[in-house]
Amino acid sequence: MKDILCLGIESSCDETSVAVVKNGREVLSNIISSQIDIHKKYGGVVPEIASRNHIENINIVIKEALEEAKVTLNDVDIIAVTYGPGLVGALLVGVSAAKGLAYATKKPLVGVHHIEGHIAANYISHLDLEPPFISLVVSGGHTHLIRVNNYTSFDILGQTRDDAVGEAFDKIARVMGLEYPGGPKVDKLAKEGKITYKFPRSYFDNLDFSFSGLKTAVLNTINNEKEYKVEDICVSFEEAVSEVLVHNSIRALEQNGFNRLVLAGGVAANSYIKEKLESALKEKGYTLCYPPNVLCTDNAAMIASSGYYSYINGIESELSLNAIANLKIGERG
Ligand code: KG4
Ligand code: ZN
Repeated sequence: MKDILCLGIESSCDETSVAVVKNGREVLSNIISSQIDIHKKYGGVVPEIASRNHIENINIVIKEALEEAKVTLNDVDIIAVTYGPGLVGALLVGVSAAKGLAYATKKPLVGVHHIEGHIAANYISHLDLEPPFISLVVSGGHTHLIRVNNYTSFDILGQTRDDAVGEAFDKIARVMGLEYPGGPKVDKLAKEGKITYKFPRSYFDNLDFSFSGLKTAVLNTINNEKEYKVEDICVSFEEAVSEVLVHNSIRALEQNGFNRLVLAGGVAANSYIKEKLESALKEKGYTLCYPPNVLCTDNAAMIASSGYYSYINGIESELSLNAIANLKIGERG
């Protein structure tokens, strides 16, 4: 069978990324231009500034991705792009660029759901991984337990009722004076801390999550304690988060008869969470798989992989494709 090259574009938040991926699994290039340094001084992503920077960067990043992959636009077979969920102004930059390329080259256009992309990062790092499986997606905007039925069909088993895990990481970090994004800093500091605080954990009858109570408890502790060790707060918070993630993930595996958990999203880069999940799953005879850190946080290789699988399963987008800020998983806009 002929190789299929997919050019992927991701611009849903503060990374402008373009990648070329072969047959959904082999990364030929994955250029990530991060705006973190620009947004840092505001303590979080400023949507207007993100859009403007995407516009400035997108063509440069497309060119770099093609160059690094040593291919031309002619060699590319499909153009895939994140069209939601995310910041609408930021998404629009990627979607417009992808539509322009698809129109000019007459190549098929495939709109990709950002979360489906995060899950697909695992197809790149685990060449033997095939659906069905259970995935735990933890990022700055999402906390979902998903049953991945096949490459293009997804059922949400549980999700957060309020804050996403990454959002809680970033908020507690900000209050402790750590720079945006706080997740990686909390991860590092926690390694030097002791679990000193018993922060609350939320459980429901179903597989939903809630992290706002935990976040508020951490913020109250920070505000009320005269002296505290940042490291202790970090690891106590990670312990509470991990316990809930472990609990719901094991329930999801048991209820659905699976023995492998596929972790995805920016927070999947967290070393404490990975360790806790891995050891709890091992005790039950289950396994955990996750991508390397560079494929956990936002990148276009995961979008190209997901786009490839949509395409070979008959999914293609019209040139009227639009950015959808609150796109639901499994929904085709
Ligand atoms: O997937 P992602 O890049 O963007 C979204 O789709 O939201 O995730 C970004 C989130 C941020 O909240 C960031 O703080 C968090 O992932 N993150 C981490 C780590 N690395 C990134 N959280 C905890 N530990 C990390 N090592
Ligand atoms: Zn993401």
